[in-house]
Amino acid sequence: MSVTILGIESSCDDTSAAVIRDGLLLSNVIASQSVHEEYGGVVPELASRAHQQNIVPVVDAALKRAGVDKHDLSAIAFTRGPGLLGSLLVGTSFAKGLSLGLRCPMVDVNHLHGHVLSHFIRRKEDDQVPEYPFLTLLISGGNSQLILVKNYNDMEILGATIDDAAGEAFDKCAKVMGLPYPGGPHIDRLAAEGDSSRFHFAKPHIAGLDYSFSGLKTSFLYTLRDAVKTDPDFIEKNRADLAASLQRTIIEILLDKLDKAVKATGVKTVAIGGGVSANSGVRTAVADYCRRRGIEAFIPECSFTTDNAAMVAIAGYFKYLDKKFCGYDEVPYARVTL
Ligand code: KG4
Repeated sequence: MSVTILGIESSCDDTSAAVIRDGLLLSNVIASQSVHEEYGGVVPELASRAHQQNIVPVVDAALKRAGVDKHDLSAIAFTRGPGLLGSLLVGTSFAKGLSLGLRCPMVDVNHLHGHVLSHFIRRKEDDQVPEYPFLTLLISGGNSQLILVKNYNDMEILGATIDDAAGEAFDKCAKVMGLPYPGGPHIDRLAAEGDSSRFHFAKPHIAGLDYSFSGLKTSFLYTLRDAVKTDPDFIEKNRADLAASLQRTIIEILLDKLDKAVKATGVKTVAIGGGVSANSGVRTAVADYCRRRGIEAFIPECSFTTDNAAMVAIAGYFKYLDKKFCGYDEVPYARVTL
């Protein structure tokens, strides 16, 4: 009998629902919240309210696009954490209500597992998926981690950021340049036209496989502050070169530790995930690195890099096959590791 999973994602500022049948994606609907743009970051209370408005139409659209009747669902998978508590509460409560109404089991999903497992989402039967064990570079607005994935439910964090995440480095530096939030995609776009060797910013010297991005942010800030003193139009005149140089530095920091982790583990497969894995420079650099080392690279479709329910549905699908259901007394969690 086929297994049909409805995934629900509401951990931050994207309300998303997706349907996966036997590992194949039938629909993935995402409603992004533009309400935060004027504040330069996500406002938690506004995010929860927007989720409340979006969740019913988004789930409805996902079921319709998939051509699936809600009574045919095998289980409802939802993001239980980590994320913003109010936002998570909306998805969790909705999943509980739907599960009770349909008498269908629930599966709770760790958002980070979802990002890691997004490479198992298939659009057609013969789509390639990674073989265990593989290494994932998970880079988002809140995380920068190197994860050894031994199985869908067995992941080991080999290294993580000790301060800012890679996405924060993009966003905070972009803010200094006067770019809108989130700045990562704007830096990406500008970098394509700039000279990446023009400026040099500080790089961290952290032992082991941990990352650090706060020094780079400070070095970027000071470079701009000093330059603007002598030329108030400095940022405007050098936008593309600043963006390209910043992006190159972030990529070098990411790749340096990725290389160390590959050598330490001897893995033959590397995957990337999270919002920053949409960055065109990161994608090319990881693909080139893997080609040079004869390693298989899994670079996600851009629609699976930022928060989406397809990754929640696929993670839920694996748990469903293992009969790892969750009860109605489970509550969301704001923070968790793997
Ligand atoms: O995974 P994600 O959607 O959620 C959070 O962890 O918040 O990641 C969002 C992050 C933001 O920092 C955003 O600037 C970054 O991903 N991002 C990018 C690009 N697209 C999204 N950073 C660099 N280049 C991009 N193209």
